[in-house]
Amino acid sequence: METKIQSVAIDGPAGVGKSTAAKLLAQKLGWAILETGAIYRAITVNFITKNLPLENEDVLAKAVQNLPVQVVYKNQKQHLFVEGVDLTPYLRTPIVDQNVALVAKVPAVREAVRAVQRQIATSQNIVVEGRDIGTVVLPESQNKFFLTASPQVRAQRRFKELVAKGGEVPNFSALLADIQKRDEMDKTRAVSPLLPAQDAIIINTDHLEIESVVHKMALKILRKDQDLNK
Ligand code: DC
Repeated sequence: METKIQSVAIDGPAGVGKSTAAKLLAQKLGWAILETGAIYRAITVNFITKNLPLENEDVLAKAVQNLPVQVVYKNQKQHLFVEGVDLTPYLRTPIVDQNVALVAKVPAVREAVRAVQRQIATSQNIVVEGRDIGTVVLPESQNKFFLTASPQVRAQRRFKELVAKGGEVPNFSALLADIQKRDEMDKTRAVSPLLPAQDAIIINTDHLEIESVVHKMALKILRKDQDLNK
């Protein structure tokens, strides 16, 4: 009998804990994981190194045509190669944080990234984390979740994360403003704006530890509990 490939789609705004939740859930299920923001980030690094004008959608649309983008797993960690170069170390740098939304709003870029994502997600059981996975990338997924949390809670979590890393004490107001700006850009984007799919289960994580979020999702997927509010 043919076994069906399964997926979990986890969407939500910046800083809501999707990435940690997706990793823990993938571990629990023994499935692969795909963090889709990294693909947009890698393309942004490639464009920056080529000095492309990131405000010019036509230039970016042309540049993404036939651009070789590969997701490679090394020791279970996701690496992003563009034109054969491993750009993984540069994905989370401030210049990428500041510019990735400009790249992610270009329809031709989204189409190219969608193709990469579908190719990976339709070949293995996988947890896919992003902004438009349930709505655009894997609309056929049987397991869609949309995580939410207030901007204040997300800024507080980011603040704690940065403090734990050491170094300069971050500015809370700046972190909050950054999260609000990114939300606005993600929500008002003409193509694939950040929205829950109609059949997505919405989980507000304001008062939930990440383990509880993962537990809720796993129960739902394993069909042991149909009512998440119990
Ligand atoms: O999740 P992240 O911070 O790594 O995402 C980086 C950027 O990519 C962010 O601006 C949102 C965008 N993105 C997107 O538009 N669609 C996705 N599926 C994933 C990320």
